Amino acid sequence: MIRVAIIGTGSMAHYHALEYQKLENVKIVAACDINKENLYGFQKKYKIPNIYTSIDELLTDCEVDAISNVTPDNYHKEIAIKSLERGKHIFSEKPLAENYQDALEMYEVAKSKKLINMVNLSYRNSSGFQELVNVVHTGELGSIKHVEASYYQSWLTSKYWGDWKELPQWLWRLSKAHGSNGVLGDLGVHIIDFVTYPVGRIKRVNSLLKTFIDKGKRVGEYILDANDSFISMVEFENGATGTIVSTRFATGYRNRLDLKIFCNKGGVCITLEHGLDSNSYKITRDINTENMYWDTVYVESTPNNIERFIHSIISGENGQPDFKVGADVQKIIDSCIESSEKQVWIDI
Ligand SMILES: NC(=O)c1ccc[n+]([C@@H]2O[C@H](COP(=O)([O-])OP(=O)(O)OC[C@H]3O[C@@H](n4cnc5c(N)ncnc54)[C@H](O)[C@@H]3O)[C@@H](O)[C@H]2O)c1
Repeated sequence: MIRVAIIGTGSMAHYHALEYQKLENVKIVAACDINKENLYGFQKKYKIPNIYTSIDELLTDCEVDAISNVTPDNYHKEIAIKSLERGKHIFSEKPLAENYQDALEMYEVAKSKKLINMVNLSYRNSSGFQELVNVVHTGELGSIKHVEASYYQSWLTSKYWGDWKELPQWLWRLSKAHGSNGVLGDLGVHIIDFVTYPVGRIKRVNSLLKTFIDKGKRVGEYILDANDSFISMVEFENGATGTIVSTRFATGYRNRLDLKIFCNKGGVCITLEHGLDSNSYKITRDINTENMYWDTVYVESTPNNIERFIHSIISGENGQPDFKVGADVQKIIDSCIESSEKQVWIDI
């Protein structure tokens, strides 16, 4: 039996709990949160035997094999390193850290301790995406020329998730002092992984980040200074070009990712909307007729990140995406920030 502790019991922690509870060889033995209301509610809902208000207490008092870290971004590094130092495998929410140096340090500690480390780049849960990646990697579509990727949310314009001005889970995402790199740090990590996993490494970026001051400058303790929209031009090491964009002002879209990869012998595309588990993608190999026909391919479901994490602990083989992937993505994030500040291309 693998004993798991969940740190942070806010919105995303419910997904973690539900996924662990589906697995026969896993028991959630503890939860930890500084917010007692969230903690007690979570304990009751998932019948968790032990609760703590500090990670230090938990690591001292509780026998646990693995930590699932679902705290806000600025606690990821501290909790991961403390857990690794105590010999615990770690599954961290994204973004892995607030910057590349911190993410790299986390990877180095995990590597030196020989412990399983994974970061929840959750769109890898899509079996359609996994198969799209396989097809691109076979090279059967020829060389990649052009890529277009977007990730759209609308909680700054829609009340579907409640009023962001009144809810801490949205406000910390808008505030640098609360550890947020804005939409780039929050959604950018997903869409950058969504692009680089199939296409390969990015060579250089040119980005523009925008914070819309007209939504307000401050709500209580939260200074609203983190970016709300970003656009990036990118060039890949394989010579392909691309655009990567994201915004929280995508009125009309709740949560939508699009990826198009155009190669000289065909192309693939995928749209993920609302859920995480889309099991299809589209492909064209129709380069000789005027129909430009795209097939929709449906694929069997593949293990999700949490299943792969548990399987990694059992097998001893670190699954993907690991902390190295998380750090590589963070390096691109940092370069986008630098590019936007200096308004120049930045080599990765
Ligand atoms: N992979 C995904 O698709 C995905 C989706 C949503 C959120 N996330 C990530 O999950 C993390 C949490 O997001 P959320 O939406 O659940 O946020 P949230 O604000 O709803 O919950 C965070 C919880 O962590 C607690 N917390 C804060 N500091 C703590 C500490 N030092 N020790 C213990 N608990 C602490 C808070 O009290 C809160 O209950 C973020 O890093 C976010 O980026 C990932």
